Amino acid sequence: MKHSFRGLIALVSSLIALALLGGCDTNTRMSTFDTKGPIAEAQLDLFMVTVWVSLFIFVLVGAVYIVAMFKFRERKDDDRPLPVQGHGNPLIEIGLIGASILLLVIVAVPTLRAIWYTHDFPVTEESKLGAWYQGEGLSAAEEDQPLTIRVEGYQWWWGFAYPQLGITSANELIIPAGKAIRLELRSKDVIHSFWLPRIAGKVDLIPGRSNGMWIQAGDSIEDWQAKTDATGSDEELRVAYASYLQDEIHNYYYGQCAEYCGDSHARMLFRASVVSDDEFTSWVSEIKTGHQAPNDMAWEDWYATNDESPDKLTGDINEGLQLFMSRGKCATCHAVNGNPRAVGVAGPNLTKLASRQSVASGWLNHRAEDGSVDVEQQYANFFKWIKEPNTVKPGNLMWKANGGGIGELDELLTDDEIHKISLYLQTLK
Ligand code: CUA
Repeated sequence: MKHSFRGLIALVSSLIALALLGGCDTNTRMSTFDTKGPIAEAQLDLFMVTVWVSLFIFVLVGAVYIVAMFKFRERKDDDRPLPVQGHGNPLIEIGLIGASILLLVIVAVPTLRAIWYTHDFPVTEESKLGAWYQGEGLSAAEEDQPLTIRVEGYQWWWGFAYPQLGITSANELIIPAGKAIRLELRSKDVIHSFWLPRIAGKVDLIPGRSNGMWIQAGDSIEDWQAKTDATGSDEELRVAYASYLQDEIHNYYYGQCAEYCGDSHARMLFRASVVSDDEFTSWVSEIKTGHQAPNDMAWEDWYATNDESPDKLTGDINEGLQLFMSRGKCATCHAVNGNPRAVGVAGPNLTKLASRQSVASGWLNHRAEDGSVDVEQQYANFFKWIKEPNTVKPGNLMWKANGGGIGELDELLTDDEIHKISLYLQTLK
């Protein structure tokens, strides 16, 4: 009897341990313990304070409980009288109240400090756009500001607008390493929550309201210098700091909506690429320019041909674009920069879609191990997403367009048509 009871305990505890270990993942793109930047670091520090305080209470209360349990338990043939029952000991009562208040203060002070820190944008010279952004078209006032990104939550995807730079992107956030960035968080429908675990989180996106926070991937040069005790001339420090950003911070991170927002909340992911200043500048300019029509045709010519004799536009890519603009009704909701007639705003902006490493708001991944785009996987993902969006992301609006409701198609797209649209989308690099 005793033996089988022990066996049962062993079995149950190993099952619990196994279940807990199941939460571990060697992929740490989402770990809150491996922080890359001051906000996530402040949040981790705060978390550890509460962990230690809770652990202290747990151990203390647990120890008293166990001692009492063993010391005062009833033994066989016990003839000891009941111990004297205590009641109303002011010393103990006031002591416990005082200790609780003290512990709460120990948690509250760093909590408030961290809340202020997260909202208090550090105005540093290095983060001002004029100090690092190489692109053109900024006013003097804008050069004096830090980069602002407007994060917009939709069911179930993310819009990322860069108002000072005049561009909009979606689902993959591109940010420069080491710069403090102001985030404006808004929602177009229900409440979502922005969470990029290794860099910053979580602040809600609330309809009709603009929330703010700041993020920074990697330490500022001062913080980095203080942590590493690096010494040398200004020039040497700058070089060493640049290689810190390049080697430790330049990377690809996962984000996730952290507030339940409907059917596909769990599939409302996003990705963040932390890049160098130069990469950021050229990315912005590519987004601004957008895309030419197939075969490098000017859009004017392409549309003139398409309006007069569409059969002259031959090949899968041209036909894919025709389907994108007409029968597929894709351009009703999606914009492709450059294309003057694809200016929809209800869905994600698709400029440079084929350079993104995932589709369907981070849910269908086609990033290869080495960081490049796996072209075959990308084709498969585009095809799957267009053919059965409601399986990939239940409840989303694209499916409504494809099956009844908003912008209902007269007839569903055939596999051949989806094939051509996918090929066209793959040219948006
Ligand atoms: Cu958006 Cu959960």
